[in-house]
Amino acid sequence: MFVMHQVTSLLLLWFSNVHCIISAVLKWISARVGGNRIPGTRLQLSKTEEPCKNEVTTPRSVNYHFTRQCNYKCGFCFHTAKTSFVLPLEEAKRGLQLLKKAGMEKINFSGGEPFLHERGFFLGELVRYCKQELNLPSVSIVSNGSMIKEKWFQKYGEYLDILAISCDSFDEDTNRAIGRGQGKKSHLDNLHKVCNWCKEYKVAFKINSVINTFNVHEDMTEHITSLKPVRWKVFQCLLIKGENTGENSLREAEKFVITDQEFQNFLDCHKSIDCLVPESNQKMRDSYLILDEYMRFLDCRAGSKDPSKSILDVGVEAAIQFSGFDERMFLKRGGKYVWSRHEARLVIILLPHYVQCISYNIFTICYFNLICTHFELLVLLLLLLLLFLLLLLIVINMFLIIVVLIK
Ligand SMILES: C[S@@+](CC[C@H](N)C(=O)[O-])C[C@H]1O[C@@H](n2cnc3c(N)ncnc32)[C@H](O)[C@@H]1O
Ligand code: SF4
Repeated sequence: MFVMHQVTSLLLLWFSNVHCIISAVLKWISARVGGNRIPGTRLQLSKTEEPCKNEVTTPRSVNYHFTRQCNYKCGFCFHTAKTSFVLPLEEAKRGLQLLKKAGMEKINFSGGEPFLHERGFFLGELVRYCKQELNLPSVSIVSNGSMIKEKWFQKYGEYLDILAISCDSFDEDTNRAIGRGQGKKSHLDNLHKVCNWCKEYKVAFKINSVINTFNVHEDMTEHITSLKPVRWKVFQCLLIKGENTGENSLREAEKFVITDQEFQNFLDCHKSIDCLVPESNQKMRDSYLILDEYMRFLDCRAGSKDPSKSILDVGVEAAIQFSGFDERMFLKRGGKYVWSRHEARLVIILLPHYVQCISYNIFTICYFNLICTHFELLVLLLLLLLLFLLLLLIVINMFLIIVVLIK
């Protein structure tokens, strides 16, 4: 029974990959032949690099920073405790429902520290709501990991697809110097603890690292390899006016900033790690849909976080016009990858870790980016039929040759 299940899963995986790759080729051809439109998406490529304003942006993947409060004091933090506001739970759920209706497939809860508010209850209830009620394919969290308890996993783990823990160094002193820590508690112990819980409760485990002047020369290869995250996101330390630089900011992060070349050197030093996903400053500024604690989209393109109106007041479509979100940059940075625990589990069951990491990145291109239209599906089936006939022809020919030779 188990073997049958595995074989079926393997066939399904194979089929979906062939399907996606052929679909990608088709899309590429039709983009070339039929102008700039990419079928299956609502994205219209304009001739210039400026985003086309009258296009409809679908909020497929949303980052909801529902709180700005945090128990850490990272010196470079770009989402600081400027308010202590958190929406009432029911209002937050209403906003999430609006996003789902507008096409959201993935929600990521962030902050501040998302596990801080009501000791993780608020977060847990949103996670459960998104998976159970809204049936979102992917629910994820980014956390510093310091406030997570096993009880939380017992209660809410089954509703969570991905948990990313931020860790900027595998040297405790460096973490402390950065501000990533609270009192005498060990950030690294927490990281390992949460990593093990993720395995136990079948939640995909990710690591986020911000590369800055304090860790730019650190070789993290051994630690990352032993922790085996499904993705290791490596951010270049970013400055945001009003957050970690300039007037009214709560941080002065200039001393953390590294050059593009230094960031590239860090990436080169870690190029053996397949699951590494680099995020330069440019990529980060316009390829994320960020919602703040009032459910306002934040536009980071001008180097600060300019808020739209709240989706609770004007709806998603009106608010998203002011988000500064560039769907092309989102796809380019690989914003769509295997992001549901069901698909992830399939990959985890079938493939060893190193292939797993590569496949996460390959699927980034093939899986979600390119959604087939019916026409493409038809062409795909025809192609598969042709392939099958071709194979049949080869087999028959070989058979005839063997018969002739024997005679
Ligand atoms: C703002 S934090 C909130 C979630 C949680 N408190 C944490 O640290 O993971 C979200 C992510 O942004 C990253 N981050 C914070 N400041 C940054 C900066 N200046 N440049 C790049 N990434 C940054 C954090 O390391 C973390 O992975
Ligand atoms: S980056 Fe650090 S200070 Fe900022 S929210 Fe996360 S843990 Fe808190």
